[in-house]
Amino acid sequence: MIYQRSVDTFEQMRPEELRSHRWYGTDSLRSFSHRARTRQLGLSAEEHLGKPVIGILNTWSELNPCHIHLRERAEDVRRGVWQAGGHPVELPVMAVGETFQKPTAMLYRNLLAMETEEVLRSYPVDAAVLMGGCDKTTPALLMGAISADLPSIFVPCGPMLPGDWRGRRLGSGSDMWKYWADRRAGLVTDEEWREIEEGIARSPGHCMTMGTASTMTSVAEVLGMTVPGAASIPAVLSAHNRMAAESGRTAVRLAWEDVRPSRLLDERAYRDALTAVLALGGSTNAVIHLIAMARRSGVALTLDDFDEASRRVPVLADVRPTGAFLMEDFHRAGGVPALLHRVADLLHLDRPTVAGHGVATREPYDDTVIRRRDDPLSPEGGLAVLRGNLAPDGAVIKHAAAEPRLLRHTGPAIVFDGHRDLLARIDDVPATPGSVLVLRGAGPKGGPGMPEHGMLPIPDRLLKQGVRDMVRISDARMSGTSYGACVLHVAPESHVGGPLALVRDGDPITLDVGARRLTLEVSDEELDRRRRGWTPPPPHHRRGYGALFDAHILQADQGCDFDFLEGAGGPEPEVD
Ligand code: FES
Ligand code: MG
Repeated sequence: MIYQRSVDTFEQMRPEELRSHRWYGTDSLRSFSHRARTRQLGLSAEEHLGKPVIGILNTWSELNPCHIHLRERAEDVRRGVWQAGGHPVELPVMAVGETFQKPTAMLYRNLLAMETEEVLRSYPVDAAVLMGGCDKTTPALLMGAISADLPSIFVPCGPMLPGDWRGRRLGSGSDMWKYWADRRAGLVTDEEWREIEEGIARSPGHCMTMGTASTMTSVAEVLGMTVPGAASIPAVLSAHNRMAAESGRTAVRLAWEDVRPSRLLDERAYRDALTAVLALGGSTNAVIHLIAMARRSGVALTLDDFDEASRRVPVLADVRPTGAFLMEDFHRAGGVPALLHRVADLLHLDRPTVAGHGVATREPYDDTVIRRRDDPLSPEGGLAVLRGNLAPDGAVIKHAAAEPRLLRHTGPAIVFDGHRDLLARIDDVPATPGSVLVLRGAGPKGGPGMPEHGMLPIPDRLLKQGVRDMVRISDARMSGTSYGACVLHVAPESHVGGPLALVRDGDPITLDVGARRLTLEVSDEELDRRRRGWTPPPPHHRRGYGALFDAHILQADQGCDFDFLEGAGGPEPEVD
């Protein structure tokens, strides 16, 4: 079905119809107080009355290096808002970040989503500019905006410049794991390791591989929530300042036309985002985030949708960790619009976006970075969804980033109970290259927060023999910049009694990606016996946000949202 309405024809509101009018425009004591307090801010009536209020939600902080330029970049957004006759107000929100947060930023995705939703709902905001990009911030900001259902545009913080070490281009994450493995194998000196530390992250911006950050900002663009071409612009380019200003101008129009997320984010938008994730060879984390976002929009996206699409969508973006290039190359090759051009027949591009009608595409400039359909990086999508007695509700593997010999494999399990146990014993277990390493207690509740521990390290002894990939299975996630035969997101997780809790050392496990099966080769009777002897571990948190998290987090196949946050509440507070 082709969508015919154009955003350009969305009706323009009158100033009295703006949501903020209720705060500023009426002849009431409350409204008087809001105006008087705006004078206190140093603003005269002419500067703001009758203008849409544009909330700039900024996730800048000094412990989020990916966003360190966003404090200045907000000034470019502000300039754009002024140019278009809006009233910009910067509203700081939690700077969820991958680099420093323990136990994992994923524990806080839903907290930022809640904060975003409630900041938008409780303040006099007519439209929002959402500034983020480090992995969880993109889905969190969008989930909050979807549930608040206020006109919103996303400003991706942009990838950092490619890493550089002795003339070699380093990729975030991917090369860290690679050189760490080499260092453990005795191949990297102390001096070299220090030089890598100085070269791998050498500018502001998010990870410049096709990790979760690049995947999710691309998702935002495909959904139609950014200006065209925004996702891949490197953070430090002047084009990034211009994109920020354009986003500010656009936000003012979105406010006047009341272009809410609910008018843009329908099932076609989410299916296109899913297709793009696969063509990008994107992060496995996108599966969780997209499902969560779609459920906020009332769209029932499932693991099976990913698997079905992955059988027909080729991987075309030759970007690490699946491919060879980095985000700057992807940008110069044309970015997301160029990727979409290559898979246009699989998409619904004739739909509204924040920029107007139709999702932007353009001819790619470089076939080596954005491959042609007849010359894909991999003919099938990078993700497969596995089921079987070990993962009744599904598990995910990014098989395009694994050694092909492992995609059909049976081996004896070596089981680790949680990350501490893994780190303590990994170099001592009697593993062979054919062993199957199993990590449990690392899911949404068990982790807690489903940390990125799913790329279990290869035991030292095997690394020194040259082994660089093994079958690994967990209820954890893995970094979008990781690689290997890692079966992730096993649902239900062990902490709630999923079959992963019943595995014992030596049990044979079969991975068969072609058949989409993950099988624990133990009889049903024996598993029943083990299940009866299993006792649930205690919850991780006694109080606070953690206790809320433990009580309400959904499993990975449902997107790890809180059960009470699914869906949209709309922009108005429940009590005035
Ligand atoms: Fe922020 Fe990778 S650490 S995107
Ligand atoms: Mg990451």
